[in-house]
Amino acid sequence: MTDTATSIPTARARVQAMLEYHPPLGCRDTLRLDFNENTVACSPRVREVLGRISAGSLTRYPERGPVEAIVATYLGLQPTQVVLTNGVDEAIHVLFEAFLEEGDELLLPVPTYTMYGIYASATDARAVAVQAADDLKFPFERLLAAITPRTKIIAIANPNSPSGSAATRAQLLEIAARAPQAVLLVDEAYFHFHGETVIDLIGKIPNLMLARTFSKAYGLAGLRLGLLAGPLELMRWVRRVLSPYSVNSLALACLPPALEDAAYLDWYVGEVLAARTEFEAALDAAGVRRWPSRANFVLVEIGAQHKEFTRLMSAAGVLVRDRSSDPGCDGRVRITVGTRDQMRQAAAALNEVLAKLKIEGGAL
Ligand SMILES: Cc1ncc(COP(=O)(O)O)c(C=O)c1O
Repeated sequence: MTDTATSIPTARARVQAMLEYHPPLGCRDTLRLDFNENTVACSPRVREVLGRISAGSLTRYPERGPVEAIVATYLGLQPTQVVLTNGVDEAIHVLFEAFLEEGDELLLPVPTYTMYGIYASATDARAVAVQAADDLKFPFERLLAAITPRTKIIAIANPNSPSGSAATRAQLLEIAARAPQAVLLVDEAYFHFHGETVIDLIGKIPNLMLARTFSKAYGLAGLRLGLLAGPLELMRWVRRVLSPYSVNSLALACLPPALEDAAYLDWYVGEVLAARTEFEAALDAAGVRRWPSRANFVLVEIGAQHKEFTRLMSAAGVLVRDRSSDPGCDGRVRITVGTRDQMRQAAAALNEVLAKLKIEGGAL
């Protein structure tokens, strides 16, 4: 029988079993507090540069080297220690492709950023989840206990999403020392809101790698721009796997003006931090349980009505992210923090929605 189904090429078994990522995109023209993006804009200097890009320049393949050198200098690193990537997502993907093979283990403190688990599921390695306690603090002791000779990568978002908690520098140093056979990836996507970094240790700790994104504080999520930093001996394998042209020329052109406009970045981060304090006070006043956050979002406890809450917030013009399917997050919703004005609007919507849910008789 030559049934057509059997004649269709099939993907690798790993890919067939891969976890899928379904971001709740679609109409996002309202207040977007669901993806931890910058909620305003990128620097006006970036917009100026974008406006000057000629059609002729788009005919050329992008050249990442000179921009990598600029970024490396900006970060106090050697050009050989930095690669630009198509968002941190590509950095994670390429790192896992380069290092994880059958028999290896990837250690992930959970809940955490979804894409680690998804890219891991495309490899032959085993992802080992290390569950945080109910306080969602970084599970340091549990993570140390989970290290084995097979541990090949330990991925730590610092600060972490969706919890907003952070590991300390001393904890990260201890982990790197206890697992010398493994790459310790510290993903500093939310660094600007936290202010603490281990970037100064790149090249000094042989198994430490670090990721940064331009999608969050810089407001360039649409350009897809991230970076991976690490010692030359590890970076050479990443470069081998990385596509030479995965960072496009528009993104490359926009990066130097984004870095130069420190005043814009300072303004945005200052605004978010002030808004976070105000919004946390509004949550406390509303009696909503929340987890302390070192990033541009807050995780809150909504309980059994999390789906309805998310739907009603969206109907009220505020998109928030239900994280109930994350390990240990049932009933919890993540709310991105934008400007003070935006968060006053969010707090007003939240109070209205909570009142409605209470009238409908559900327990919060
Ligand atoms: C911890 C963490 N790392 C990486 C990313 C993705 O960054 P990028 O947009 O650069 O791919 C996110 C996005 O939400 C994140 O939360």
